[in-house]
Amino acid sequence: MNVLLTGGIGYLGSHTALSLLEQGHEVTILDNLSNSNLTVLQCIESISSKQLNFVRGDVLENALVKNTINQFKIDAVIHLAGLKAVGESVLNPLKYYENNVQGAISLLDAMLSCNIRSLVFSSSATVYGAPQYLPINEEHPTNPYNPYGNSKFFIEQILIDIARSNKDWTIVNLRYFNPVGSHASGLIGDNPNGIPSNLMPYINQVAANQRPFLNVFGGDYETLDGTGIRDYIHVEDLSEAHLAALSWIDDPDKNRDINMNTFNIGTGVGYSVLDIIQAYEQINGLKIPYKITARREGDVAACYSDPTKANTVLGWKALRTLEDMCKSAWNFQKLRAIDI
Ligand code: NAD
Ligand code: UFG
Repeated sequence: MNVLLTGGIGYLGSHTALSLLEQGHEVTILDNLSNSNLTVLQCIESISSKQLNFVRGDVLENALVKNTINQFKIDAVIHLAGLKAVGESVLNPLKYYENNVQGAISLLDAMLSCNIRSLVFSSSATVYGAPQYLPINEEHPTNPYNPYGNSKFFIEQILIDIARSNKDWTIVNLRYFNPVGSHASGLIGDNPNGIPSNLMPYINQVAANQRPFLNVFGGDYETLDGTGIRDYIHVEDLSEAHLAALSWIDDPDKNRDINMNTFNIGTGVGYSVLDIIQAYEQINGLKIPYKITARREGDVAACYSDPTKANTVLGWKALRTLEDMCKSAWNFQKLRAIDI
């Protein structure tokens, strides 16, 4: 298939690009580089020994998106372009609604004009809000509690309406849990600007002596060791879920009755912050100093998926272990630390 991958230079997009290229798909990336660096493009091409098309631009530029779809004869779109910093979204909600929601509308409009009706959308477990039960299946009520989560929720609602409006659309909505780790090559990975807000990149920077210790946000949750529990998923498992999503889109037998489907993309296993530290230390032979501090506002005690639907309907399952996640995360950071 000729696949348009928006946001393909970013963390999840670059890994997804590699999975697509490995499977023989033609890949066109559209990215405005607002949270990524063009060097990643060279890494993707060097790892895969394949060429891809790159268009520097914004999904909000409707005419550019249409031209890109037409020029590269796109069959399906995987839409990852978006802003994802929860704290920033609270301070500047309009930025999130414009970039994420308006960006999705612009993309959908371009797809409509160009008669392309196949879409995979990157949503988030954040749409569920505070879990009412665990593990979270796709039937769990949605109740996001910050503008970033709302932006994903609103896009999901738009997609439901679009799918209803015309049966030619086939849409797969993927709700990612906590992607971590990096490609086996160590050349691409999670490389946030500034102080990392997510756990694994912060641990990486402590391991590389760029930060003295990790703040563990809360040691008094009602969990076995008192720290927060999440469903961490290896980024390569996550990127492979997009291949399964494209197969679902492409297989007329599988989507006879419905033309939009939502899937949790997680492992179904929850690990605490202390589990992660311990696994990271053990597999990498490193010490991660940490201090238990106050809870972070907005955090919940535990959040993990029931991925049964993706396992059965998509035939996709996360296969990599926590050790694989921690090892590959450090492998990426280690190579970067040598560069610095
Ligand atoms: P990322 O920031 O690394 O990648 C996003 C890419 O999109 C970047 O390269 C950025 O430059 C580009 N981009 C942003 N706005 C754009 C626009 N208007 N036009 C064109 N390009 C634009 O983020 P990521 O971690 O790779 O996340 C990818 C997607 O998955 C996002 O939509 C995010 O909300 C979603 N998601 C991520 C996580 C996570 O923990 N990483 C969890 C759930 C959902
Ligand atoms: N944590 C720390 N110290 C840190 C960073 C995180 O103790 O420096 C803890 C958090 O309190 C939480 C766990 O590590 O218990 C994971 O935190 P992350 O920030 O890595 O991830 P979140 O679960 O908070 O959120 C992430 C993304 C969201 C996305 C969600 C989906 O940041 O955008 O996963 O499940 F919506």
